Amino acid sequence: MRIVRGGTVVESNWSAPADLVIDDGKVVALLAPGTSVDESAEVIDATGKLVMPGGVDPHCHVGFTSGEFTSLDSYLECTTAAVFGGTTTIVDFAIPRPGQSPLDAAEKQRAKAGEGLCDSALHACVVEWDETTGGQLATMAAAGIRTVKMFTTYAGETMANEHTILNTMQATRDLGGMVIIHCESDAIVADAQNSAAATDDIDASHMSRTRPELAETASVAAILAIAESQDAPVYFVHQSTSAAVELVVDARKRGVVAFTEAVAHHLTLDDTAYAGAEPERFVCCPPLRPAGIVEGLGRQLFTGNITTIGSDHCCYDTAQKRSHRHDVRHMPNGLPGVETRLPVVFSHYVAGSGLAPSRFVELTATNPARTNGLYPRKGSLMPGSDADIAIWDPELEWTVTSDELHMATDYTPYEGRRLRGKPVTVLVGGRVVVDGGRLIDPTPHGRHLPAAPLDFSGAFRM
Ligand code: URP
Ligand code: ZN
Ligand code: ZN
Repeated sequence: MRIVRGGTVVESNWSAPADLVIDDGKVVALLAPGTSVDESAEVIDATGKLVMPGGVDPHCHVGFTSGEFTSLDSYLECTTAAVFGGTTTIVDFAIPRPGQSPLDAAEKQRAKAGEGLCDSALHACVVEWDETTGGQLATMAAAGIRTVKMFTTYAGETMANEHTILNTMQATRDLGGMVIIHCESDAIVADAQNSAAATDDIDASHMSRTRPELAETASVAAILAIAESQDAPVYFVHQSTSAAVELVVDARKRGVVAFTEAVAHHLTLDDTAYAGAEPERFVCCPPLRPAGIVEGLGRQLFTGNITTIGSDHCCYDTAQKRSHRHDVRHMPNGLPGVETRLPVVFSHYVAGSGLAPSRFVELTATNPARTNGLYPRKGSLMPGSDADIAIWDPELEWTVTSDELHMATDYTPYEGRRLRGKPVTVLVGGRVVVDGGRLIDPTPHGRHLPAAPLDFSGAFRM
């Protein structure tokens, strides 16, 4: 038995001084501060700290192959970095390679869960509907893989057409699942890329021009219409503008069950990065937006309109990012971020702008657990939940440097950034895995987490 004493426990809808009792990997009691317990219990002193549920990263690509590139981390590497950053559950993607079935991709990716330092869940992915797809989705749902990633862009790779998207929405709706979707109109993107290429403006410094905001909003509107026509829930990954979020908000008012994910880099970095010395290190889709758009997106954290914050972690290194930097159409897209997601958002929005710690927990742990059928096992510290705990020092000031991070890459988009707040002790399943910047327990105990059928009929705030 362990007791976390003296801290302020932060749940998604309350925070208060409390002691937390852990036994057999679970939280077993929340007690008034100082309540006496079994004397043999090991005490973890959390005086002056915030005691939060470990983060749940709803959008994390591990060893992801796209085109000629594979991102560089294993489950062990990704989850080690995650835990150092206060995240204790990741949700990865099983993206089929050309010719591979969604089910085969899911089975292969799920088999890696045991290599993780922490637990993981999986999103399936459908690219093209055929007569076997419904059966494959049913098999995956029975194994607890209920969320299905789709793309309206990346033609020739993972883009799905509207028929496939509609069919998949129908099927997932009936299986207690949900389509989660990357929305950028591929036609608008292709046209923007072609016109940029015609004037020789296709290198990484022109990333913004090649993927305009309108490509995102146009696609979100089209997908919302399909979801509405099917009475199917839908979750928009990495929404990068307030305008895209507002489309989702309007649809909710019409009764559509629709969720918005923002990712840490769209909330804390802007497009001035493309004018810097190494723009290729910031190439991601959708791209980083102008500062005014970032500010507008950030305001939506306070309105309640954004449901979750993910990382969209893609662990490419500088050599991979550099290799096609003269033509963004051939570059690996995505930024490393599983380790920095929580600290950069905490520093910017909680320490810097007054976002309530409870809302931070809601966005980064509780709601990601809810939208993935993992709540209340994950994303909560109420008795019965897994004892995955991030103990934060909210005042600790530190500087981000890739040398001291644990992701399997040689850079971070936040190099040199000064942050306030850091997870100092992280428990996974009741075991202290990270303490004071050191890995205490490197033993992989990762489990694949089956998602429960999704039920959004309750009072889940969106
Ligand atoms: O740039 C990104 N986001 N790369 C990862 C794949 C995706 O679109 O999520
Ligand atoms: Zn995406
Ligand atoms: Zn992604």
